[in-house]
Amino acid sequence: MSDKIAYSREGDIAILTVRNPPVNALSHAVRQGLSDGMDQAEADDGVRAVLIVGEGRAFFAGADITEFGKPPLEPHLPDLINRIEASPLLVVASMHGVSLGGGLEVALGCHYRISVPSAKVGLPEVHLGLIPGAGGTQRLPRLTGVEAALDVMTTGRHIGAGKAHELGIIDVIKDGDPKANGIAYARQLLEEGVSRRPVSEMDPPAPIDWDAAFDTILAKGRGQISPAWCVRAVQAAVEKPFAEGLKAERQIFYDLMQTDQRQGMIHSFFSERAVGNLPELKDVNPRGIQHIGVIGGGTMGAGIATAALLAGLEVTMLEMSAEAGQAARDRIERNLSGAVKRGRITPKQHDQILTHTLVVVTNYDKLQDVDLVIEAVFEDMEVKKKVFAELDRVCKPGAILASNTSYLNIDEIAATTSRPSDVLGLHFFSPAHVMKLLEVVVGDKTAPDVTATGFALGKMLGKISVRAGVCDGFIGNRILATYRTAADQMILDGASPYEIDNALEDFGFAMGPFAVADLAGLDIGWAVRKRKRAEGNVPKRDATYADTLCEQGHFGQKTGKGYYDYAAGPKARVPNPDVLPMIEADRARLGITPRAFTHEEIVRRYMAAMVNESAKVVGEGIARRPLDVDMTLLFGYGFPRYRGGPLKWADIVGLEPLLNDIKSYAAEDPDFWAPAPLLEQLVAENKTFDDLNKKG
Ligand code: 3HC
Ligand code: NAI
Repeated sequence: MSDKIAYSREGDIAILTVRNPPVNALSHAVRQGLSDGMDQAEADDGVRAVLIVGEGRAFFAGADITEFGKPPLEPHLPDLINRIEASPLLVVASMHGVSLGGGLEVALGCHYRISVPSAKVGLPEVHLGLIPGAGGTQRLPRLTGVEAALDVMTTGRHIGAGKAHELGIIDVIKDGDPKANGIAYARQLLEEGVSRRPVSEMDPPAPIDWDAAFDTILAKGRGQISPAWCVRAVQAAVEKPFAEGLKAERQIFYDLMQTDQRQGMIHSFFSERAVGNLPELKDVNPRGIQHIGVIGGGTMGAGIATAALLAGLEVTMLEMSAEAGQAARDRIERNLSGAVKRGRITPKQHDQILTHTLVVVTNYDKLQDVDLVIEAVFEDMEVKKKVFAELDRVCKPGAILASNTSYLNIDEIAATTSRPSDVLGLHFFSPAHVMKLLEVVVGDKTAPDVTATGFALGKMLGKISVRAGVCDGFIGNRILATYRTAADQMILDGASPYEIDNALEDFGFAMGPFAVADLAGLDIGWAVRKRKRAEGNVPKRDATYADTLCEQGHFGQKTGKGYYDYAAGPKARVPNPDVLPMIEADRARLGITPRAFTHEEIVRRYMAAMVNESAKVVGEGIARRPLDVDMTLLFGYGFPRYRGGPLKWADIVGLEPLLNDIKSYAAEDPDFWAPAPLLEQLVAENKTFDDLNKKG
């Protein structure tokens, strides 16, 4: 038998113990071992029951995702589960840790299920672009009814043992050792003389309006298709005999396995885990962090402080005056009240944090004890340099000095201190206590253990941290600036902001670029343009419609109007009728004859600009790997997860056609559309961006 399964006996109970660390994925060897184990138990004299139990952290985390996309090897999981269920012996699952996907499906193939109170179950296949493919869509509704089963499958969420017991998924919850519990439960069932209880033999549940459910779930998926297909599989469970339903499920599973969405989702799954794994930090220990300082308690500083407080860190916040300090405290209090409403902290913890864990000061000397300090003052190099001079003066040796700057040069900031190796950028995204992305910006002189501490802090705060090098805008904002420019160019050439937003939202972005601009505040871009203009930096085609909007006091959502009118609330946007005439005036002034853009062309140009700049960012080493760019766009810029990120998307659509698009656009504007050397190289060598991820 495979060494992944240990066979043992306790009287008349055979025990199959799964040993496939770290999370007992159902790899080929595990499936084979379980199949052999069932054979052995059935042939073993005196055995009347089988217990399946996992060793280590979990019962099973599901099918082995690394095997997806490769030819499937027998025994296939659905056949194995049918084989377990059909056994003449009584089969019991004892669950702990997680039982996910195929893991829960194995449990559903067992005749009885016991778990520890901390166990969690779920069918998260939709997060991989799939549906449950080993009987989950057929067995679960027979236990829970259609509505609950669809909720479990289409959200993919993890359900605690208590709720799973209520739903009829788990029969018994008992604290203690899963193996001992399982043996005792199997013995009890044998003594009670209960019979086998195959879920497949249970009656199917009542039907629902399948078409309505399909349409509703499809609409909610923002382009993602797998959740809606769960509905069709469950429909088959209700309408067809079990074996036929299983076939229908399998067909949908295989069809989805062939999709780009499955590729994108699985890329996202592994990249999310790989992004914080930097070879250069493998043996580097981070510095300890318990107490952090935050300089400036505006939008970002208050959000960063909130994230740190929620993670249990002590925070000393420094503001310019007592009044500004009070405003910062009020912002943090509002954020923390939101956390109470969402059940993240209790009202008692909220009060405790505000009275004891957060200290607001106006004097730098109060920062002597902090382990790490994050500056989030105005985006102005001179102001930042003054702050860092103060930090250099007061902070203890070994304290880490970080800046949340969006664009400014970390090396220049570091050079003003006596300890540039302790300086790095920690670039959070707004709102900082909500957004998952953290760019860890590594300067020329940043010490490896300082970088490692940036990543460790990100982990404490529940962020996805990405290593970025120093350049204007680092990874995310630099790429954003380029694709925003492509969108602005399309507007001058004839597209409307609404066509662009709609095309990109149909592509799967959470929000189009103009809706995003309204949310972030149009005054930010206005200030940058004014500064650039003052420096003599005037764009070739000098559009003024965005400035005109701001001059009229329209800064987006916060003033109720921007590209859109928000009179009916932030979610009920309608185009602001003043905008198109302003754009038309610019076109007339610049002598541009507008032309029509299809949604497809909008997406092609926008994505070509994004991929080209991303390739430059990787080629220049600002991002170490393509997956670093992919995760930046996914977690900070609303890129659709099911497309895997811009560079995974590029691999899927093909690099050569993309490069050809870029070259054809370059005929209009050779500077802006200069092809990235890395993209040209990959095309010449017939390679993909993902090939570069694999090099580690
Ligand atoms: N297959 C292969 N590897 C897996 C895996 C799986 N199902 N689940 C986790 N791993 C790997 C991770 O890649 C990671 O590897 P690394 O250490 O080399 O980076 C390692 O196991 C540990 O995982 P995490 O770092 O994610 O550990 P956590 O403790 O944070 O989370 C978990 C554990 C909750 C199990 C999480 O890993 C998870 O959600 N896994 C995916 C579960 C899933 O989607 N299951 C369904 C699979 S599809 C299926 O079953 C199809 C069936 O219906 C036919
Ligand atoms: P903000 O204007 O909301 O807040 C700045 C705060 O800093 C104010 O409360 C101000 O009183 C305080 N401050 C200014 N000078 C100070 C000084 N010398 N000492 C102490 N406090 C001082 O600005 P916001 O938006 O929070 O931005 C802060 C930094 O974060 C900037 O560098 C910005 O580029 C960056 N950032 C902003 C993002 C955003 O979406 N707003 C996103 C990511 C980074």
